[in-house]
Amino acid sequence: MTSSTVSSEVSSEVGSGDLFPAQITVREESTALLDAVVDVVEERLKQRLSETAPKPLGLATGRTMEPLYAALVARLKGWPVAALEHLRVHWCSFNLDEYVGLGAEDPRSFSAYMAQHLGDPLQLSPQQLHLPVGEAADPQQQACRYAAELQSFGGVGLQLLGLGSNGHVGFNEPPCGVDAACRVVPLSQATRQQNANAFGGDPNLVPTQAITLGLREILAADEIHLIVTGSAKADILKALLESPCTDQLPASWLRNHRQVSLWADQAAAPMRVPPVV
Ligand code: GLP
Repeated sequence: MTSSTVSSEVSSEVGSGDLFPAQITVREESTALLDAVVDVVEERLKQRLSETAPKPLGLATGRTMEPLYAALVARLKGWPVAALEHLRVHWCSFNLDEYVGLGAEDPRSFSAYMAQHLGDPLQLSPQQLHLPVGEAADPQQQACRYAAELQSFGGVGLQLLGLGSNGHVGFNEPPCGVDAACRVVPLSQATRQQNANAFGGDPNLVPTQAITLGLREILAADEIHLIVTGSAKADILKALLESPCTDQLPASWLRNHRQVSLWADQAAAPMRVPPVV
């Protein structure tokens, strides 16, 4: 453990840069935790609307994010109609990754996931939700194009991240160096197993490759929010908090970023929620 802020409430404190994570928020229940994350995302979305060249949001997929997007959609639908319309018009997000070989119309693709959980409920056009094109004829060229497109938008402002059971972020599988850029990666058996539920439970049906933003693009984000929920993530989160930077635990490279906020529910967190006073 570091001496970073551990709070049961969202703190505005930002770490010195020597601390990882700069801020830790632990809540007993994941619903309360995700509501707290939505508070931050909503605030940033409001800020973006007043900026002339706002940076894109960096979005993740996975089961961790599903209830977060549901809570975000519910929150945003409570905005005044004009404000929500303004948000719609100016929405711009870049996802971390996509499976090689799956097109947007494939319900198992991350593109379809984003449409289901965010694009359709908020009536965003697919062009506003950027993802790598999984069915591109040349996936590596597609990875380079995707990175260049993100760069042309100025890189990510707020980045949401989940944590893979093997310590991956995006699809940066171990071993992975800090300089890894957007590229095609082979998926480990552990990751294919972890993601099998979208493929009828059969890990052999999970694609063997993906296009992912690298640690290079992830670490270039202005702020990173790592969200970890559920007891299945307790071991890897503990390992992350105790690990130095290492290729074997790709998420450990987040130590190189000054503005990482960790959001964990009690089931995943090795530290106890302090009593609210
Ligand atoms: C997946 C995705 C990540 C995701 C992570 C955790 O494989 N590539 O973007 O954040 O692994 O997934 P989950 O939330 O389903 O545990």
